[in-house]
Amino acid sequence: MRRKIVAGNWKMNNDLGQTDELLTELLKKMPETEASVMVAPSFISLRVAYDALIQSPIEVIAQNMHFAESGAYTGEVSAEMLKSAEIDTVILGHSERRAYFNETDETLAKKVSTAIAHDMTVVFCFGEELTDRKSNRHFEVVESQLKKGLFHLESQAWKNIILAYEPVWAIGTGETATPAQAQEMHAFIRKTVAEQYSSDIADKVSILYGGSVKPDNAKEIFSQADVDGGLIGGASLNAKDFIAIIEAI
Ligand code: 13P
Repeated sequence: MRRKIVAGNWKMNNDLGQTDELLTELLKKMPETEASVMVAPSFISLRVAYDALIQSPIEVIAQNMHFAESGAYTGEVSAEMLKSAEIDTVILGHSERRAYFNETDETLAKKVSTAIAHDMTVVFCFGEELTDRKSNRHFEVVESQLKKGLFHLESQAWKNIILAYEPVWAIGTGETATPAQAQEMHAFIRKTVAEQYSSDIADKVSILYGGSVKPDNAKEIFSQADVDGGLIGGASLNAKDFIAIIEAI
């Protein structure tokens, strides 16, 4: 059985006080679930979140890291630093980092390698833009992002990979991929991984959908055969909505 996952990407939201408030509320009403639940606060809040959640099954994960081990990279955070704060999972390749911080397939491949070398788990994000979909290039774009970002990895590294398909046109727009569009792309992603590696690896990798997942559409999206959960932005900032999405899985 593949792992079901609901992960909240808080992006650049929540200071220390707000982190504490949101997590306190989340803990009060956290449902019993077999799914893995994760939250990704800002670097500043990672440790506070870790301490607040230490007795709970919710995992605290990071939103980014640098590929270098250490050195003159002002403003950056390394894998070793995350590990020293007990953070074992990192989101890499989010479309906002690709678009606003010039992260390329090449830098992402390096980041992925560094994370794997430190035995971290990677939530690897990718997805097409609206123009790609309109020109019917969405499969090609997704395949290229997967190949360039991940296909240098050896088979055994895939136990540490979680995929997150996030069509850029659905992020923060209120427009979601239809369940059929999500399923079609997730099945394509799994097939692409199977062709490069093996059907065993492809069957085991969790593929999350991200892009305007809300309490009222989560259940239908999560019910698709190849959708193993969600990466949630806006709705993860509200305990009630995030809990409703966890319940939907
Ligand atoms: P929204 O849920 O706000 O559309 O964000 C999705 C996302 O980017 C998660 O990483």
